Amino acid sequence: MESESHQLTKLMESTSKPADVITITSGKGGVGKTNIAANLAICLSTWGKKVLLFDADLSLGNLDVIMDINCKYNISHALNGQKSIDEIIHYGPEGVEIICGGSGLQELANLNTFQKQRLINELTKLQKDRDFLVIDTAAGIASSVIAFSLASDQILIVTTPEAAAMTDAYAMIKVLAGNNYNGTINLLVNMADSKDEGKRIYRHIASVASRFLDINVYNAGILLKDKHLIDAIRKRKPVVKEFPKAKITASLASIAAKLSVSPPLQNDNKAFFKKVVDWFF
Ligand SMILES: Nc1ncnc2c1ncn2[C@@H]1O[C@H](COP(=O)(O)OP(=O)(O)O)[C@@H](O)[C@H]1O
Ligand SMILES: [Mg+2]
Repeated sequence: MESESHQLTKLMESTSKPADVITITSGKGGVGKTNIAANLAICLSTWGKKVLLFDADLSLGNLDVIMDINCKYNISHALNGQKSIDEIIHYGPEGVEIICGGSGLQELANLNTFQKQRLINELTKLQKDRDFLVIDTAAGIASSVIAFSLASDQILIVTTPEAAAMTDAYAMIKVLAGNNYNGTINLLVNMADSKDEGKRIYRHIASVASRFLDINVYNAGILLKDKHLIDAIRKRKPVVKEFPKAKITASLASIAAKLSVSPPLQNDNKAFFKKVVDWFF
């Protein structure tokens, strides 16, 4: 019997599909991407999913603050061969695995073909035993952000009701459409004053995208302006852990639930990191 169950486990392991990749991005900065990435990752992890959060923000990443970890190692330690990929993983709340990015990613541009291949192989291993890779990016349509976005199964575009944020979110959708992105594009309206305002913004952007770009933009959900989030940041704690009963926690959980059941996509996500490196560098 024991060997039978062992066999079964082995079968399940070998047939389990690679992690779904969700990239969180926005046109404009300061719209809440990093907080959303961290809290969604924690929600998924609470439900027993194995989640790795990858910080692909080259500039001012603050994931370490929100997750209250010390980014002792980042991706550059793996790039220069000082550490293996496994050794640069940090552990945040609920066992969420975190890879810190920082300026390390810029070094990718200087790698030779052999080093790039080695890196792709290492990163691809990350997808094997996990359910989700959540990628937090910088704002804007920089080539690295586009590369991560195009290679992922799902993209979560974050906007706020601010006109500039909406315009930039649309610009991002336009770039994705122009590159024939074939995954799912979800829009999240953050810092809305009311659910109605959020829904109105979603409908507006989705209808323009449908009409002019012939592309579907799904509604990931609405997050209201909530001072619990600011209190949590001050305490270096993710809001879903610090304020489990707050409205924003329920909203984040429902967004995580929605993203986790999104249909499997045409994207061959086995090659996620290969695509990123091919496109970006
Ligand atoms: N729902 C919200 N309610 C209140 N403040 C928010 C909310 N979302 C984001 N913020 C504020 O926006 C700031 C920027 O958030 P952050 O996640 O770092 O954005 P990004 O990663 O897009 O630059 C936070 O420090 C917080 O003050
Ligand atoms: Mg950020």
